[in-house]
Amino acid sequence: MELIKWTDKYSIGIKEIDNQHKGLVIIINELFTYMSEGKAREKLEIIFEHLADYTKKHFSTEELVLYKYAYPGLEKHKEEHLMFIEKLENLQSDFSHEKITVTLEVLNFLKYWLLNHILISDKHYANHIKKFHS
Ligand SMILES: [Fe+2]
Ligand SMILES: [Fe+2]
Repeated sequence: MELIKWTDKYSIGIKEIDNQHKGLVIIINELFTYMSEGKAREKLEIIFEHLADYTKKHFSTEELVLYKYAYPGLEKHKEEHLMFIEKLENLQSDFSHEKITVTLEVLNFLKYWLLNHILISDKHYANHIKKFHS
């Protein structure tokens, strides 16, 4: 099941990054499917962990690219990433300590954070990078 439907408007035009964004969408959709099917907590915990790992990997890739292209907004961008990682880790820990369940509210938070970040912040650096390739 799809909580997020990938469309071209989410593409920032950098292949490696777009593929990673698609990967994140797949994991969030997976979490949504498992939640809807009422899958066991252990199963959701594994996907949650996968989401956290993949997100960190993606952010490192992006930050390295931004560094290479001397993107002036790098520090601000890193801060946005860091805040999301903190939020994600808190959710993950609350979930594994059974303080919360994966609800639609949690999933929608992940969904809208990711899509807004792609559409605004990631597209912003993509425009900066494209200047070097035109
Ligand atoms: Fe980003
Ligand atoms: Fe990104």
